[in-house]
Amino acid sequence: MSQILVIDDDIASCRTLEMHFSIQGHDVLLAHSVKQGLDLDTTANPDIIILDIRMPGESGLDGLPLFKQRYKNARVIMITAFHDMDTTIQAMKLGADDYIHKPIDIDELDQSINKTLIQASKNNDDMDISAEGFPLSSTNTMIGHSKAMRDIYKIIGLVANSPATVLITGESGTGKELVAHAIHKAGANPDAPFVAVNCAALVETLLESDMFGHEKGAFTGAVAKQKGKFSMAENGTIFLDEIGELSASMQAKLLRVLQEKEFTPVGAKASLTTNARVIAATNVDLVQAVDDNNFREDLFYRLQVVNIHIPPLRERSEDIPDLVQALLSKINREMNSNVHRISLDVINRIQHYDWPGNVRELENTLMKIVALSPGEIITEDMLPEKLTAQLIEKNTSVADISESAIAEMSLQDIEKQHIIKVLEANNWHKGKTCDILGVSRPRLRRLISQYDLDEHGRE
Ligand SMILES: Nc1ncnc2c1ncn2[C@@H]1O[C@H](COP(=O)(O)OP(=O)(O)OP(=O)(O)O)[C@@H](O)[C@H]1O
Ligand SMILES: [Mg+2]
Repeated sequence: MSQILVIDDDIASCRTLEMHFSIQGHDVLLAHSVKQGLDLDTTANPDIIILDIRMPGESGLDGLPLFKQRYKNARVIMITAFHDMDTTIQAMKLGADDYIHKPIDIDELDQSINKTLIQASKNNDDMDISAEGFPLSSTNTMIGHSKAMRDIYKIIGLVANSPATVLITGESGTGKELVAHAIHKAGANPDAPFVAVNCAALVETLLESDMFGHEKGAFTGAVAKQKGKFSMAENGTIFLDEIGELSASMQAKLLRVLQEKEFTPVGAKASLTTNARVIAATNVDLVQAVDDNNFREDLFYRLQVVNIHIPPLRERSEDIPDLVQALLSKINREMNSNVHRISLDVINRIQHYDWPGNVRELENTLMKIVALSPGEIITEDMLPEKLTAQLIEKNTSVADISESAIAEMSLQDIEKQHIIKVLEANNWHKGKTCDILGVSRPRLRRLISQYDLDEHGRE
């Protein structure tokens, strides 16, 4: 049962509709003018408003924005004897949900109400986080359906069972370690150890001992014999993270492991063998490092028998809604929170941000929002400034900016965006730009310098 408010100055028409809807079990309210409709007592909370356009006093079109404001959950169906396109367009632009002509065809009205109620129940403005499709039960589940991610899943499937060395490249936070885990888990020995070595974290002797182990007394502090990670990995996987940071001598030692499957613990005389699968990752450009003589070419080719490149998040923003959903349900579990709705405006903002720190930055940002959020829904006002500021900065024209964003812009912001738009449209031809903007050349020069605009970087 829904509450339906009928606003029409034609009393007979109101009565007919009242009877019709009451028989269907709806709760019906009547008003004969915009003013009366707005003045109903505070218990009025219509799901549907049927609003006549032509009425004495304020017209239905004038009243439409007021009703949308007063009854926030209501869907509005406009009724009119006019058949012109302009009124229809205007009504829809003002936020009407449907539009029906007089004389009213009661079946058509019923259909419209049903359709409108179904849409309302879908709650089109929100995304449901509690969707069960994203359990992210293990921390290693990868999320994303973009073409790039689907290709990566395919390659993981292809290489999982071969012993080939894999080099995973991508910016920081794109999920390189996650891909390494996925290869390991899909491989022949998923229950064998997965051992990670950070090639950047340690001083050289310690790194060597971390990888290959050491004998007792091999160096100061080596009070006991220690196994290295190549040994610990057994027939599992050794993940060499930040491989681009290896020194020349460590590069040589690693090359030996890859070629001969042999290594020597620090201070030991005999060498050991390894069966571990090697997966390496880096966020530096190894081709460039080889060119600059900072990385051995032979090692590079040994490492990248298979290369998996993960594109940055900004190049696969279609993955963002899924990621947000999955990460939020993970955060809810970890933080014992219950954020389960997020408005589509928020998703839109998140999709328009650059994410220089990629998925890791997205995860950290969501965590902060959840920590500070009082309720179960994330709305635009909870977003950090970096997300709301950049949408305005990045857009090329005022026309691209949503009305809600414009409502938050200062006149100066709008002036700046408009100047950029006209300059770009005229290929930075100053004379034409001055003509269009109606300013003198010196004034345009001042504006360009005031807003720090330039032809190449634009700002
Ligand atoms: N596709 C994805 N689905 C779900 N979570 C992801 C995805 N990609 C990355 N993450 C999450 O983002 C965080 C960063 O991922 P990861 O540590 O694998 O990145 P990285 O590329 O190794 O970064 P760095 O270069 O800084 O070491 C992790 O918490 C990871 O779980
Ligand atoms: Mg990493």
